[in-house]
This record gives sequence, C-alpha cells and structure tokens, in this order.
Amino acid sequence: MTHNLLVVDDEPKLCDLLSSALSQNGIQVFTASNGLHALKVLEQEDIDLVISDWRMPGMDGPQLLAEIKQRYPQLPVIVMTAYSTVKNAVQSMRNGAYDYIAKPFDIDELDITVSKALQFRDILKDNQRMRAELEEQQQFDSLVGDSPAFRRVLQAVDSVRESSATILLTGESGTGKEMVARAIHKHGNRADKPFVAVNCAAIPEGLLESEMFGHRKGAFTGAVADRVGRFQQADKGTLFLDEVGDMPLALQAKILRALQERVIEPVGDPRERKVDVRVIAATNKNLLEAVANKEFREDLYYRLNVFPIPLPALRERVEDIALLARHFAHSLGATAGKRISGFSPEALQAMASYAWPGNIRELQNCVERATIVASGQVIEETDLPGYLFGSQPQGAEAGTSISVGPQVPSDLDAALAEVEKAYILAALHQSNGVQAAAAQMIGISERSFWYRLKKLGIQVDKIVR
Ligand SMILES: Nc1ncnc2c1ncn2[C@@H]1O[C@H](COP(=O)(O)OP(=O)(O)OP(=O)(O)O)[C@@H](O)[C@H]1O
Ligand SMILES: [Mg+2]
Repeated sequence: MTHNLLVVDDEPKLCDLLSSALSQNGIQVFTASNGLHALKVLEQEDIDLVISDWRMPGMDGPQLLAEIKQRYPQLPVIVMTAYSTVKNAVQSMRNGAYDYIAKPFDIDELDITVSKALQFRDILKDNQRMRAELEEQQQFDSLVGDSPAFRRVLQAVDSVRESSATILLTGESGTGKEMVARAIHKHGNRADKPFVAVNCAAIPEGLLESEMFGHRKGAFTGAVADRVGRFQQADKGTLFLDEVGDMPLALQAKILRALQERVIEPVGDPRERKVDVRVIAATNKNLLEAVANKEFREDLYYRLNVFPIPLPALRERVEDIALLARHFAHSLGATAGKRISGFSPEALQAMASYAWPGNIRELQNCVERATIVASGQVIEETDLPGYLFGSQPQGAEAGTSISVGPQVPSDLDAALAEVEKAYILAALHQSNGVQAAAAQMIGISERSFWYRLKKLGIQVDKIVR
C-alpha cells in the first residue's frame, strides 16, 4: 500500500531532507511551508499522515493541528519541535497529535514513528471500510429474510423510504409491521426526527382525540395541564398509526382532516397548528371489508392506502423460517449466555412444516424457549414445543395449503378440524393457556372457543407449554 505524507516546515532544507529520507519506503511526500499552505494540500491530496513543525510564521503548528483535528479527525499528525521542551510535546499530544519528535532527530527514529503512525492510519481506514460494508449488508439491519416474498417487501421499503408518502402496512399479527415501519423511518430522510408510535387499539376511545391532537389545560375534567398530542410530537418525523383498523369512526373523521390539511386542533383550543408528519399506518384487519361493513371510512382508507405494503405471512415465506430461526437462536442464545450453533435437520423440518399462525413473533417465542431448554449447542426436535407437532402431518400441510398449495385433502372435514386444532393450540400456547385471551386472539367468542375445545377434544391442562 502506498501512503501520502505531508511535511510542513518553513525551513525548505528540512522539507527536502525529510522528502528524500522518507520517500524511499513506498511513501509519497508532499511539502508545505506553512499551515495555510498545508490546508490547501490537504484539500487536494488524499494525505495519510502529517508531520508538522511547531513554530512557523503565520499559522503555526498548534493552530494547524487544531484545524486538522476539526476537518480530518481521523488523520494522524506528528509534531516536530525544536524546543524539545516536554511542555510543547505534552500540549500537542493533549491537542490530539498522534506523536511528537524532537529536533534534532535521527532518521531511523523518525522512520519508526512514521511507520507506526501509518499502521494506525491503516487500521482506522480498515475499520471505516468494514463499518460501511456492514451497514450496506444490513441495509435494513434487523429485517431478516431472503425469500422472494420478503424481497418484494424490501424492494418496496427501499423505493419509498426517502419520500414522505403515506404507507399502509398490512399483514397478520406478528408479520413484522412495526419493525418495517421503524426501518422505513430509520432509513428515510426523517431519520434524525422522532418516530412516534400510537397503538389505536390500546387507547381508550374517550382519550384518543386528546392523545392524538393534545389538549388545553381545563379542556375536560382531568386535563390538569396542557398536553402535546402525538401528531405534534412527531412533527417533521414519522407518525406510526398502529392497528389503524381499530380506530373509532368519530376519530377517523378527525384524522382524515389532519392528513388532508396537515393541521391539527388540540382539544379545547380552537387555534389550528400546522404539522408536518409522515404517516405510516398498520393493520391486521382487512380494511376493505371494514369499509364494506361501514366500520372504516372509505375516504380515510384511500388516504392511507397511497403506498400499500402487504407483509407476507410466515407460511408464505417458508424459505425464511430456517434463516429467522438461526437469527433468533444466535441473538436470544447470546442474551441467555448460551452458544447455540444451529438446529438438527429434524427440528428444521418440524419448523418448516408448521403453519405459524402467530408468524414471526410466534417463531421467535418458540426459538427462545428452545434455546433455554436445549442442553447442547444444537436445538433438537425434542427442544421444540409439543404443539408444533400437534397438527402433523396433515394439519401443517393443510395450514400451508390454505393460502398457497393446491393440495386437496381426501377428507375435508377431518383436514379442517386439524387446521382448527393447530390454530387453537397455537393460540393457547401464545396466551399461556388463558382461554379468554386465546379466543380473542383468533377472533371468536369465549363460548365458541370452549365449544371447539370440546369438539376437538383439546384438554387445556394437558398442553405442553
Ligand atoms: N424480518 C424480520 N426479521 C427479524 N425479526 C423480525 C422480522 N419481522 C419481525 N420480526 C420480529 O418479530 C416480532 C413481531 O414483529 P412486529 O411487532 O413488527 O409485528 P407486527 O406485524 O407489528 O405484529 P402485531 O400485528 O401483532 O402488532 C418482533 O419481535 C420483531 O422483532
Ligand atoms: Mg405491531
């Protein structure tokens, strides 16, 4: 590797001497007679190391050092001082010089100092390059997946991240909607501004308006102080409207106005405020169906659906299961202080043929459990939760074929019962056996859930969790 070196000294003789002494070792030497001149050379050439005199007319060594540290913080500087007082040397080191050398000096001594400094420079450059490469590789950092279905998502994310277009993320629970929303924000041009997430389903209806738009002190009982709403918090940044399909109709009208006119009105305050937010909305509901059922405003639907990104269910990207499982095993294993090297072929097979109704979140929980249970470095079939096998083989295949496969069961009712059982077991697993929560998760009443348990012969207390 060749290096470019800049010698700064008002003494032409010394510049010449250093030039010829150092040029021999694959180093090209540039010279400058003062600080200002040196800065010019630095602008034009890709310099790896500066050797500068301390006392110079005009811009002296300390001033040049300060300039360099500011403009090129990664560039090492060696300071030469004729007044070999410790004071100068210490001061230069404190101001960020890489090293110093006292005049008069021996060329061999200088050679050693220079090659050490160049090695240091090379390491810095390597680190920078590796970091840049790593960033490129992990373009959307934690978004793991390489299947065609997921690549389409990544392409969509890439094409829209730098705009301020409204995005609608749709997909089943646990498919990564929030993660994708954060990735879009992080890699867009609002990245240094806030990302504010609102879960429209989690906030009581009566509080939603004030949560979104803020309120004035005294606007209603309990409004003891002014409050800034989420829209304003997200000003210049991104507002993530999660579970947007669960927003009450009354609020939908107000949100629509805010999106159309880019102004908001805090509760109890008639003065409008301008807001500049990029909206990313997400839902696991079928919004068109909700529109048809008059649960969701059609005009708001079109306002949000400017750039839809549908997230595939995990069973539609079976190729990614092993990749994701390894990713989780490594990261979760590391947190648990365990080194997991991978999965047995049987374990991979079992995961690949399960339907994953809870998608990536369910896979993550499953792998987390397995890393804890596993006695060795490899996760075996027996480390996986029993419910993965509850539906095998027909259930898992039927689960897959619901959306993609042309496989036809020989006994439809039996196959449907297997699928039903697999989903119910998965819901029970995810809810830690709480039936009410499991019922809610799959959108049926507790009564109907209980009825199905009986019909399918599922004994909740016998489920291995
Ligand atoms: N592509 C991915 N790579 C790695 N991890 C992922 C990926 N997508 C999602 N995850 C992980 O899966 C879990 C679920 O993701 P997330 O919360 O984004 O899903 P969601 O669609 O918002 O779910 P819900 O509808 O239930 O809110 C998170 O822990 C997330 O870290
Ligand atoms: Mg979510």
